[in-house]
Amino acid sequence: MSDFLELAKTRRSVRTFDGNPVPASIIDELKSYANSITNPYGINVRFEFLIGDENKLSSPVIFGEKMYIAALMEPGKNAEEAYGYAFQDLLMKAHEMGLGTVWIGGTMPRDKFEKASNIASDEVMPCMSPIGVAAKSMSMKESLMRKGVKADKRFDFDKLFFIDSFESGLTEQKAEELGLQKALEAVRVAPSAVNKQPWRVVVIGDMAHFYVKHDRGYDNGKYDLQKIDLGIALYNFESQLKSEGKAPNIEEADPGIALPNDIEYIVSYRI
Ligand SMILES: Cc1cc2nc3c(=O)[nH]c(=O)nc-3n(C[C@H](O)[C@H](O)[C@H](O)COP(=O)(O)O)c2cc1C
Repeated sequence: MSDFLELAKTRRSVRTFDGNPVPASIIDELKSYANSITNPYGINVRFEFLIGDENKLSSPVIFGEKMYIAALMEPGKNAEEAYGYAFQDLLMKAHEMGLGTVWIGGTMPRDKFEKASNIASDEVMPCMSPIGVAAKSMSMKESLMRKGVKADKRFDFDKLFFIDSFESGLTEQKAEELGLQKALEAVRVAPSAVNKQPWRVVVIGDMAHFYVKHDRGYDNGKYDLQKIDLGIALYNFESQLKSEGKAPNIEEADPGIALPNDIEYIVSYRI
């Protein structure tokens, strides 16, 4: 498999589409891929492919789209991480197939999408994505949105990733010596809600420990969008290592190190 990072670097959120429906054969391929998706937690994530016109669906930030994928889960321990991991798997497959997507967790008429997805009483639908071919140029609204959240920028490597403790930033050079530069870069380029980039990783020996840096306003009591961001990061990290022929193993192994404010342990990879 070629480097996952190369694929991850060519992804960006797409909010302006060419106005054409996605061919049925491509949707069928994506549906069968969706059915094969698993996640490290073994938690069920359900995907619904929704035709816009049939369900009168739209979003104020998206233009020219004909179809959406909604993703649903039952809230619970690690459900958000499983959800982020699984939906990112599907959206990266769509990207690989030449389709544009964007995670939408806020800017949508949620009740319409939930109804169209036949949401069960014990389910939630944190996010959906439109799916289609990107238009040749972005709408004015999309360009402004990207500027507003500095969508083309990410924090420096050593502000997101650390070695031994949160006191010492990990340089790209050191990460390369450890064989982790590309996997961590695949995390750095990942999408996140409002581009907050809440993922933090501390490397200690042969373990990479993942944490979330909480901002206010992302946890609605049923799910935390920033833990979904963490699930996306886990998927990107693992996918890059696998594409290098490695076999990272996910484990709960909190090293119990001192934590800065608002930081919470999520999970670890043995690498
Ligand atoms: C969980 C999640 C929720 C998001 N919700 C929205 C949303 O409601 N509306 C929107 O326009 N973009 C949304 N985004 C897209 C982010 O704004 C985008 O990923 C970020 O600005 C980085 O830009 P990029 O994806 O082009 O790299 C969301 C992303 C994630 C991961």
